[in-house]
Amino acid sequence: MADDYIIAVDGLVKTYGRKTAIAGVDLHIRRGEMYAFLGPNGAGKTTTVRVLSTLSGFDSGRIVIDGHDILREPREAKASIGVIQQHISLDKDLTVWENMMSHARYHMMPREERQARIDELSEYIGLGEYFDYRVDDLSGGWKKRVSVVCALVHRPKLLFLDEPTVGLDIQARRGLWDLLRRLNDDGMTIFLTTHYIEEAESLCHRVGFIDGGRVIAEGTPGELAGGIGVSTVEYFGPDRRTEYRYFRSREEADGFAKGFDDTYSVTVRRTNLEDAFVEMTGSNMGDSGSAGGGTRRSGPEGEAGT
Ligand SMILES: Nc1ncnc2c1ncn2[C@@H]1O[C@H](COP(=O)(O)OP(=O)(O)OP(=O)(O)O)[C@@H](O)[C@H]1O
Ligand SMILES: [Mg+2]
Repeated sequence: MADDYIIAVDGLVKTYGRKTAIAGVDLHIRRGEMYAFLGPNGAGKTTTVRVLSTLSGFDSGRIVIDGHDILREPREAKASIGVIQQHISLDKDLTVWENMMSHARYHMMPREERQARIDELSEYIGLGEYFDYRVDDLSGGWKKRVSVVCALVHRPKLLFLDEPTVGLDIQARRGLWDLLRRLNDDGMTIFLTTHYIEEAESLCHRVGFIDGGRVIAEGTPGELAGGIGVSTVEYFGPDRRTEYRYFRSREEADGFAKGFDDTYSVTVRRTNLEDAFVEMTGSNMGDSGSAGGGTRRSGPEGEAGT
């Protein structure tokens, strides 16, 4: 049933001049899901979030949010959505509290509920002491926290977060993860983009790999990792380049690993989401942070030999 999906996207295309940013995306996210888009720089993550959250237009396709076609019923669709953008969009001249309150008013929250909701969220994210600060005077991480509260103030059914933990310190990142889990437990659907594999792996039910404006693979973290092979042999030798081979069984991996002499350092381990990402997108995450450089793509699944 279409109504099971809080996000139903078919054939979405978005261009900027001659550049195609989204090249025919279909996306079906169930109510209550926590879903992540992983993709290299320029893959189309931000564009997708902006289009789905009604902040940008699109060229063709159909987008239905919470049962409302966003072109025909934009107001109803918007009421279900909260969004935390990659590039923070707050009113810099207003205080933290004024920003939060203006979001609450914009979403027509009943007057008597506004302050309690702001207090509840701010306490969770450690912002209470900063109500009177002008947003422009806060550091990047604190601005991000304010944008989290603003996005949640009207209790949206669906929350979009575009790289939500970039620039947050460790405590704030953990706090945000806990908050997202709690919101999801309470029924909120969460769609996030990230460059951090562990963020997708530990938070999300399903992950989509996006590359060149297309969703190239989708599944649970376990399904995606298993799709390239259950066991990985990671090795580097005299040329100091790390190489990876993926195998359908631990036995095959162990057999391959035995073939190296002691000029090689060899590790056999479970295949993880990062392996699948690098293998399928041909990209390491060096641009934005999680994995180190020096990786090279391996040959086909299960193939032995150096
Ligand atoms: N306003 C714009 N005008 C022209 N081209 C744009 C615009 N915004 C994005 N693009 C292009 O669309 C493509 C997708 O960009 P997008 O910002 O969605 O990528 P992303 O996956 O969010 O990347 P990142 O990981 O760097 O945030 C890129 O090729 C980008 O150059
Ligand atoms: Mg982006």
